[in-house]
Amino acid sequence: MFRTRITRLFGIEHPIVGGAMMEVSKPEFVAAISNAGALGMMASAMYESREKFRRAVRRVKELTDKPFGVNLSLFPALMPIDNNLYADVILEEHVPIVETSGYRPPEDLLARLKAGGVKTMHKCVSVRQALSAQKAGVEAVTVFGSEGGGHIGELGLTTISLVPRAVDTLDVPVLAAGGIVDGRGLLAALALGAQGVTIGTRLLVTTECPIHDNLKQALVSATEVDTLPILGSLRNTVRAWKNAAALRVAELESLQADLGEILSVVAGTATKRMYEEGDLNAGVIPCSQSIGIVHEIRPVANVIEGIVQEAAEILGRLAA
Ligand SMILES: Cc1cc2nc3c(=O)[nH]c(=O)nc-3n(C[C@H](O)[C@H](O)[C@H](O)COP(=O)(O)O)c2cc1C
Repeated sequence: MFRTRITRLFGIEHPIVGGAMMEVSKPEFVAAISNAGALGMMASAMYESREKFRRAVRRVKELTDKPFGVNLSLFPALMPIDNNLYADVILEEHVPIVETSGYRPPEDLLARLKAGGVKTMHKCVSVRQALSAQKAGVEAVTVFGSEGGGHIGELGLTTISLVPRAVDTLDVPVLAAGGIVDGRGLLAALALGAQGVTIGTRLLVTTECPIHDNLKQALVSATEVDTLPILGSLRNTVRAWKNAAALRVAELESLQADLGEILSVVAGTATKRMYEEGDLNAGVIPCSQSIGIVHEIRPVANVIEGIVQEAAEILGRLAA
């Protein structure tokens, strides 16, 4: 329905990328997003060995013959990440698309991937970083506004300000991320000049999303005031769902508490427990302010089709 530079570049039906989500983007979920005509994105940092990552990539390939991607994290991590190990598997398994997120993608890594026929994109939170990624050689850039769930950075720029600036400045196609959960958001992003959108939070609240039902129910009841930015004191700001753990992090930061104490609350193991056991206050999860307009748990294909159809309907109404 909406053909753009991004649908052509990635060979996908809809201009929608399902954002990589740590511990959530398991093969079945990634494949469901690709099978719905969007671009499923694996989160490589979930896999602690090359072989586990390879098994997951092969599982996605078994479940879909549509394009999918792998996210490589360039964020600071407690356990250093060697993205070259993932790149080996990506090349050997012919993964078609790679997204880097965080700091400037290393040119040698991009060159290696591109020489192997992989299409590359980068996700960042400012026009300066976007320009630097374009210079490093990526074929598309996602700019991520601070209403979104995840690493929103320290600048606090919102999607509506960031996207047109990026579109006016870059030559490569731009995707908009941050706060997009429905057809209104998709059409607004396209109107701002984006060639596609990256969505995360909306996909958390889907039937196939592998998180505990307690959490899905809590998220559909949340409103636009139920998130907060945390970890700014570490210059690693994340927008998170406002539960007891996130509030505790904010409190510890205001008290200038010990780094170890803060990290124990945001540990990935605590978040994993929350996803698996449904203990709503066990850890911290990223979440968008737009959670306030997500009211139903629906199948992935239904969500993606619904977003595209709603955008088309609004466009028709406005044109009439
Ligand atoms: C639960 C969750 C986990 C996420 N994990 C990652 C991640 O590991 N790497 C990454 O680059 N982005 C991550 N993100 C960001 C998403 O990929 C996407 O950019 C973002 O969710 C878009 O904003 P939205 O939540 O408003 O849709 C995460 C987002 C959420 C909600």
